[in-house]
Amino acid sequence: MMNYLIKGARPLGGEPADILVEDGRIAAVGDSLDATGAEVVEATGLIALPGLVDLHTHLREPGREDAETVETGSRAAALGGFTAVHAMANTDPVADTAGVVEQVWRLGQEAGLVDVVPVGAVTVGLGGERLAELGAMADSAARVRIFSDDGHCVADPALMRRALEYVKAFDGVVAQHAEEPRLTAGAQMHEGDRSAKLGLTGWPAAAEEGIIARDVLLAEHVGARLHVCHVSTAGSVEILRWAKSRGVQVTAEVTPHHLLLTDACAESYDPVFKVNPPLRTDRDVEALRAGLADGTIDAVGTDHAPHAVEDKESEWAQARPGMLGLEQALSVVIETMVEPGRLDWAGVADRMSVRPAAIGRLDGHGRPIAPGEPANLVLVDPAARATVDPAALASRSRNSPYAGRELPGRVVATFLRGVPTVLDGKATR
Ligand code: DOR
Ligand code: ZN
Repeated sequence: MMNYLIKGARPLGGEPADILVEDGRIAAVGDSLDATGAEVVEATGLIALPGLVDLHTHLREPGREDAETVETGSRAAALGGFTAVHAMANTDPVADTAGVVEQVWRLGQEAGLVDVVPVGAVTVGLGGERLAELGAMADSAARVRIFSDDGHCVADPALMRRALEYVKAFDGVVAQHAEEPRLTAGAQMHEGDRSAKLGLTGWPAAAEEGIIARDVLLAEHVGARLHVCHVSTAGSVEILRWAKSRGVQVTAEVTPHHLLLTDACAESYDPVFKVNPPLRTDRDVEALRAGLADGTIDAVGTDHAPHAVEDKESEWAQARPGMLGLEQALSVVIETMVEPGRLDWAGVADRMSVRPAAIGRLDGHGRPIAPGEPANLVLVDPAARATVDPAALASRSRNSPYAGRELPGRVVATFLRGVPTVLDGKATR
């Protein structure tokens, strides 16, 4: 296995240092390291971060390999600076058995670009009626710790309570897609002035906030871990802040698109902007940025949701919700959080690597850049800017909401246990 000398990168944005990678681990961090025989990676001006970890990736395999596969999604992830992604369970068949999660895990190993960590479904077939075999998925080779019916809400409070009780036994976590279905029937976008003007059925903030309020109380009662997927409203941030102040074991994520875009995008009627939960208002965006900055929101989760052209390029009402996220996530965080001075690089590492790895109970990810640690690293050029071209993405789908937008930051290299998956901004395999 090749050794690498990363020269002059700034770990977590601090002082420049050399990073020596040997046998898949960080062997040394320091000035003017001598490393005869190691491949030199010139990294002056680049920021070094621990490899990013996504809590929320839709890889679509098995079932919709025309939209994404474990391999194409893994390549998109590596290009985005990720070394681990959690693969959501709403595949076909649903990842609700040990067999399916092991299949996804094995496909990830074969692709070898990122650690693909399967999420298990909470209920059989995402049906919301019977608990899936959570323990068998946890005990499987895939070592599932996060369970989610994402795409659907675990709406039945008694079932949610039982899921929390069950995962507590093996330190798992239920990741809730917070959407009270009775309040979002037929919903097309955020409910507010703009939905009224456009004549589209609205998805009220209360449909999300009511479930989060209920679930933090259930998590407190049971003493189990709850994670809230893609928080999108100012009220949700307030509820989370309150719950955390009470000591509830709750964590939450925000997507890049909810940090950048608003419901004004719906005025174009371009279905690329249709997503669940919907894009909200300026006020919500501001509260999400503040919540991520102060740690009330623990993590950025991409909700990378590839869709085939026929499912996306139709009328707004017929289009599937969801948008790509992996390849631009870091750039959006730089634009919305780093450049405005709301998060420093250590903060980016915390929200995009350290905390997501901790929530997923992943070993070897989200670790300090220090001798002895596995060499899961990303090198970022913060000064680079580029215009997003969906045709150039590694994802098999093209539904990027950032098409034509100029964004800062470029992933120059990604290392997975010392093996470069991206070099010079290009995937190595
Ligand atoms: O917009 C979304 N798309 N939200 C979800 O919860 C599911 C996802 C998907 O699977 O496409
Ligand atoms: Zn969701």
